[in-house]
Amino acid sequence: MPVDISSLPCQGQTVCVTGAGGFIASWIVKLLLEKGYSVKGTVRNPADPKNSHLRELEGAQERLTLCKADLLDYESLKEAIQGCDGVFHTASPLTDDPEQMVEPAVNGTKNVIMAASEAKVRRVVFTSSIGTVYMDPNRGPDVVVDESCWSDLEFCKNTKNWYCYGKTVAEQDAWDVAKKNGVDLVVVNPVLVLGPLLQPTVNASIVHILKYLTGSAKTYANSVQAYVHVLPGVSHPHQQTERSCQCELSPRHELADSGCQHRTVSVV
Ligand SMILES: NC(=O)c1ccc[n+]([C@@H]2O[C@H](COP(=O)([O-])OP(=O)(O)OC[C@H]3O[C@@H](n4cnc5c(N)ncnc54)[C@H](OP(=O)(O)O)[C@@H]3O)[C@@H](O)[C@H]2O)c1
Repeated sequence: MPVDISSLPCQGQTVCVTGAGGFIASWIVKLLLEKGYSVKGTVRNPADPKNSHLRELEGAQERLTLCKADLLDYESLKEAIQGCDGVFHTASPLTDDPEQMVEPAVNGTKNVIMAASEAKVRRVVFTSSIGTVYMDPNRGPDVVVDESCWSDLEFCKNTKNWYCYGKTVAEQDAWDVAKKNGVDLVVVNPVLVLGPLLQPTVNASIVHILKYLTGSAKTYANSVQAYVHVLPGVSHPHQQTERSCQCELSPRHELADSGCQHRTVSVV
């Protein structure tokens, strides 16, 4: 039975979620629909069965539109973002192959912010990563990282960590482009995200754990890894950053000199 959304505060507002069929994005779409938003979700192939779970979500029939868009196709993003009040930019490759990673992450993110600027959306929430924060060999192991920390690009390159490299350049450029174009940007930097899957396929962070359960990983890295649950740890903070468009900002958000710009590290 369709839910009566007439009393929900977000009813009538439209939000775009890029890479809607992905692990984190599917949860964001679900929560946005539950709150009464209309959602335009970008996917590369709306007909692909791997995206069909989105159409099953409560409220999807009435308020979810799947738009075909690629991060490197500006016009497709522009069409999806046009008419939206906000954008959640989660789409990204998750790989250490430099050719597959860097250009879509960096230019794709710039494209999203430019399209959001053209469409005059109220806010862009970008899912960055802890990978843009912690990769710095010159920082001592006891230092607590926070929003002021950045990964060292040379170190990422030398260690062939192209995921962290791509996400770091993407985030740095995102701040730059947003500032130049007056876009209200919020960045969320999650650690490794786990939790129930809405989508029928496994994503990279689930594979990270699965490989130990299936035995395909024979050794454990001698290092520390932080984890966060997809729901309270990542999807809800994304929601709060959208809601905080209209209300006061929490003290964890840092305001940049141009006004309403903040970066949030999401931890366990
Ligand atoms: N999962 C984690 O532990 C974690 C931690 C920190 C940050 N993050 C960030 O969170 C975001 C989502 O991660 P996730 O784990 O949910 O990943 P995911 O399930 O693999 O979803 C990524 C999505 O990005 C889309 N995508 C990739 N390249 C694209 C392109 N060129 N054009 C359009 N769409 C493209 C994919 O679409 P297709 O289905 O068409 O391939 C997919 O839907 C990413 O930005 C990631 O860097 C994730």
